[in-house]
Amino acid sequence: MGKKLVLPWWGRKKNTELEVSPKGLPHHVGIIMDGNGRWATARGLPRVVGHRQGAEALREIVRECGRLAIPILTVYAFSTENWQRPQAEVDFLMELLLEVLTDELETLHGEGVRIVPIGQLGDLPKPVRDQVEYAATLTASNENLKLNMAISYGSRQEILKAVESLIDMAVRGELTQVTEMTIAKLLYTAEDPDPDLIIRTGGERRLSNFLLWQSAYSELYFSDVMWPDFTKEEFQKALVDYQKRERRFGKIDENE
Ligand code: FPP
Repeated sequence: MGKKLVLPWWGRKKNTELEVSPKGLPHHVGIIMDGNGRWATARGLPRVVGHRQGAEALREIVRECGRLAIPILTVYAFSTENWQRPQAEVDFLMELLLEVLTDELETLHGEGVRIVPIGQLGDLPKPVRDQVEYAATLTASNENLKLNMAISYGSRQEILKAVESLIDMAVRGELTQVTEMTIAKLLYTAEDPDPDLIIRTGGERRLSNFLLWQSAYSELYFSDVMWPDFTKEEFQKALVDYQKRERRFGKIDENE
């Protein structure tokens, strides 16, 4: 697979439009894209219209991560709990996923985005799973932005799966010691550093089974803006807020 062409606004060169400092940007951002349904309901529209608009918002944020050279973005697209929504909404979200990963794939590929699905992909309808896997394979060597798409993802399920693997390894006599790293390497995010910043839109202030292990020292940013209205300017606000935080990772500041 040859080196991909990148669009002019893309890339890692200094960008005069940048409103956040290029120094101290997060390496890995996680986003809980909440509020699609309420955004639509507030406008007298069906909830699914909010999801469609949410996909547009995601597009803008992916592009902004590329522009800012943020290397990893993990988005919560569909949780293990979301299967319990009305069937029509689940079907719509699956269709939307398929549509986005079909219609946008060439563009994302051209922009150097590597799509990595994380979650219980076996739960997905076959056409969706096939397209998700195709997107992952096609974009596997892209390096501008790693886009982890959490689909049928639940953090407790992810940790449980890691524990099951540990038990298997122990039974086979392949386990002498368990460290934090042993567990981290058995999670979907094994190759990624922990998220520096987790953003949740839509006004709720909780993690809802998203990256529970990985978020131990993440900075959390909660926005009251509903996800479909979360523009790149709102994203920049979160980044500026992040850049003001002092991250001590449980230690003390020795200059104090
Ligand atoms: C939460 O809003 C959002 C979801 C359950 C789905 C997230 C999906 C998107 C942002 C669409 C783009 C993703 C793809 C590629 C399919 P909610 O419905 O829980 O909102 P509410 O809290 O207002 O009900």
